[in-house]
Amino acid sequence: MDTSETRLIELGRYRRRLAVSMERMFENALDWEHLPHLHAGSFADITLLDEGKDYWVASVRLQPTQLRLHQTVRLSLDRQTGIWVTEVLEGFTRGLQVHTQARELGPRSIEVDVRFRAPTPFPVPRVAARGLARLLGPIGVSVYRRLYDEDEQMMLERQAQLDRRRGPRLGERLRLGTRAEVLRPGYRLPIEEGDYRVAEVGGELLAFSTVCPHLLGPLGDAPVVDGQVRCPWHGYCFDVRTGNAVEHRLRLRRAPRLEERDGVVWACPNPVDG
Ligand code: FES
Ligand SMILES: [Fe+2]
Repeated sequence: MDTSETRLIELGRYRRRLAVSMERMFENALDWEHLPHLHAGSFADITLLDEGKDYWVASVRLQPTQLRLHQTVRLSLDRQTGIWVTEVLEGFTRGLQVHTQARELGPRSIEVDVRFRAPTPFPVPRVAARGLARLLGPIGVSVYRRLYDEDEQMMLERQAQLDRRRGPRLGERLRLGTRAEVLRPGYRLPIEEGDYRVAEVGGELLAFSTVCPHLLGPLGDAPVVDGQVRCPWHGYCFDVRTGNAVEHRLRLRRAPRLEERDGVVWACPNPVDG
């Protein structure tokens, strides 16, 4: 029997293929801002403490908030090797490290190999380390499975938006239909050059882009409240009347102006943006 001791316990491992490029994956790892929005089930909020080209340090509050669990987390990425390490510097599960190795299988196909490791303050017999791993490993794996489900959706959608980008010109006047038709959930303006939906704000019909200008997040199903729509990926909020972000220097892509005449809604070129 192996009775030697260890100071680093390997708690578990999670491997998975993702239909995304390395570039999307690295971008996602470095994107601290999406945690409490896209992964709202795991993170309550985040405050950035430090950031560089290939690392970030942040203080996070975990869900459920009643447990008052905080962490200071550092993520550092090495693009050459495709490895990034997330380490809990302070707080709940202090010392825990998550090593991720990404490997490129094709232009839009990668495999991530995630290992959860915890240092111990004193040497632990290997048999005890294995027992701990059996207990804690599945928890890490199930958390990461969910996070990657959410991340993969985001990366796929962002890639689709990047692929779809074409020249803007929205010069024609277009008959859309009745007010009820354009306000139907899921309705999109029949325009090739972008994805636009319609909202009613104070009785007025407004078209706006369903693509968030931050990292191309989805505004297609986000509710419009008091004329504002919030992106589910990082929580940026936009005023659909002006297209301007509420707290950031960003603007939604130019949308056609809508006109309603004799019960028919028309999309018209937007003179404001030329
Ligand atoms: S993509 Fe980041 S807030 Fe929309
Ligand atoms: Fe994520």
